[in-house]
Amino acid sequence: MTTFYVLTLFPEMIMQGMNTSIIGRAIEAGLLQIKAINIRDFTQSKHKKVDDYPYGGGAGMVMQAQPIYDAYMSIVEELGYRPRTIYLTPQGPTFHQKMAKELALEENLVFLCGHYEGVDERVLEEIITDFVSIGDYVLTGGELPAMVMMDAISRMVPGVLTNEVSGENESFSGNLLEYPQYSRPEEWMGKKVPEVLLSGHHKKIEEWRLEQSIEKTRNIRPDLYQEYCKEGK
Ligand code: ADE
Repeated sequence: MTTFYVLTLFPEMIMQGMNTSIIGRAIEAGLLQIKAINIRDFTQSKHKKVDDYPYGGGAGMVMQAQPIYDAYMSIVEELGYRPRTIYLTPQGPTFHQKMAKELALEENLVFLCGHYEGVDERVLEEIITDFVSIGDYVLTGGELPAMVMMDAISRMVPGVLTNEVSGENESFSGNLLEYPQYSRPEEWMGKKVPEVLLSGHHKKIEEWRLEQSIEKTRNIRPDLYQEYCKEGK
């Protein structure tokens, strides 16, 4: 069973965001477990404070080291070792499919979700093993990025996807985008389903799909297409 620990000030956001559809089913099936830990529960301050003004001045508040560290240590005590711990930040390398596949091999993963202007650097130095961004834009907190990552990682955990939804023949596998899909009816708004898909000729269908994937990738994602071409050599 894969366990995701999420250190957050908004545990309900995580739990509500992750209990539907495929991920919800995987949790019910006992393939995944999500433990959202409220950082505020670990504060030693009288008024349950978790942030303070930045030294040196400037806008916003900074999340303090102590509650985050104690929340993290409660996980370390539970596990008996220091698990891989990811800090969601626009300052990390960008998340991608290969990273999702690799992280799916971990039994336990911790996500630290920051808020306000940031997190005290010292606690990051102490507990973080990976800094990860989900793209070049700034969000108000790390919760959505953590959920994005958990969703993508979960799909790569064996058993989470059934045969109906395969993780193999899809976008980014082999650096190609997925081919276009069609379902009934055969004609809609005057648009017909490509003839080859109705032929029942599996080899021809496979060839057509690969060709479509290559063409689509070349047009929409020339960067990925370059990678695909390199692979063939
Ligand atoms: N926190 C705020 N913005 C973020 C981003 N783009 N990726 C990961 N964490 C973030």
